[in-house]
Amino acid sequence: MIRRSVLIGTGSALPRRAVSNAELAQQVDTSDEWIVERTGIRNRHICADDENTATLAIDAARRALEAAGIDAASIGLIVLATATPNQTFPATATIVQDALGCNGGIAFDVSAVCSGFLYALSVADSMLRTGMASRALVIGAETFSRILDWEDRTTCVLFGDGAGAVVLEARDVAPDGPGILASQLHADGAHNELLYVDGGPGTTATVGHLRMKGREVFRHAVVNLAQVLGDVLEGVGLSSADIDWVVPHQANQRILDATAKKLGLPPEKVIVTVDRHANTSAASVPLALDTAVRDGRIKPGDLVVLEAMGGGFTWGASLLRI
Ligand code: UT7
Repeated sequence: MIRRSVLIGTGSALPRRAVSNAELAQQVDTSDEWIVERTGIRNRHICADDENTATLAIDAARRALEAAGIDAASIGLIVLATATPNQTFPATATIVQDALGCNGGIAFDVSAVCSGFLYALSVADSMLRTGMASRALVIGAETFSRILDWEDRTTCVLFGDGAGAVVLEARDVAPDGPGILASQLHADGAHNELLYVDGGPGTTATVGHLRMKGREVFRHAVVNLAQVLGDVLEGVGLSSADIDWVVPHQANQRILDATAKKLGLPPEKVIVTVDRHANTSAASVPLALDTAVRDGRIKPGDLVVLEAMGGGFTWGASLLRI
């Protein structure tokens, strides 16, 4: 038997308001045709005044707990990935903890932008396997609409708000049983200037706006994602042919296609939600995972690989059996 973190429930939440490309084209100089052709995005959800990163995270977490059939009181660890916390501090994870009523355990945020959920999952997995807690909530939640420059058409059309959550439980399982099998994480701070926010509490005392050199990020994304996916599989003696599903970070349909092609993965094995949700940063992987679990594609026993790449740069992949 081997100690693993087993996924026992998933959940997600989106703001009430959906915004189509056509609606955006009334505010900025863009078109549905350009956005669909270059990115695959057709729609995104945008928060109203009474919605924020914590409310989305709480809704996603409640749905994940419900799917797992467990009470919030048994959650001893909450790791929340976000680049758009409700406040500079306290950690948004502590707001979620209080709303769920599981106070007293461990709760903190992780900042790795679009790779945040992969970082959070890996941290929670390590802590569960070393006995720091027996059940964890891992959440990716973002409100990028609040850090976008709505006059910059090269970025504002690409992102949306949302949250996704998973419940993990430490269990002793057979080697071919369920759980997280392997994870790999990377960061390379040399590329900070390609994707960043031009403000922050420690410098400008403002929140700032997202800035991105999209074409260069695109190029790095395909190379890094194909590499880390290949490495995580090779590390456990598997190949892309063994994979049932890839749940990628949803930044651009063309990145999903190029990465799958590089690895020889058929497009039918790639979960795609970028058309509906746009890029929701740390929320995109758990949102896509929950979508595919709920619509019945991802089933118990399936071998699933999650991957993401984002600002920093940061990137990573996790392999798990459901
Ligand atoms: O989640 C973190 C990771 N982020 C990513 O992975 C994003 C990666 N990058 C991308 O997805 C793509 O590079 C973009 C979607 C951002 C841009 O696509 P592209 O094919 O690289 O286009 P481009 O930046 O080379 O721009 C092509 C043209 C430009 O016009 P000119 O210079 O050729 O006249 C832009 O001004 O498209 C123009 N353009 C637009 N036109 C209409 C840029 N944004 C828009 C827009 N609507 N929204």
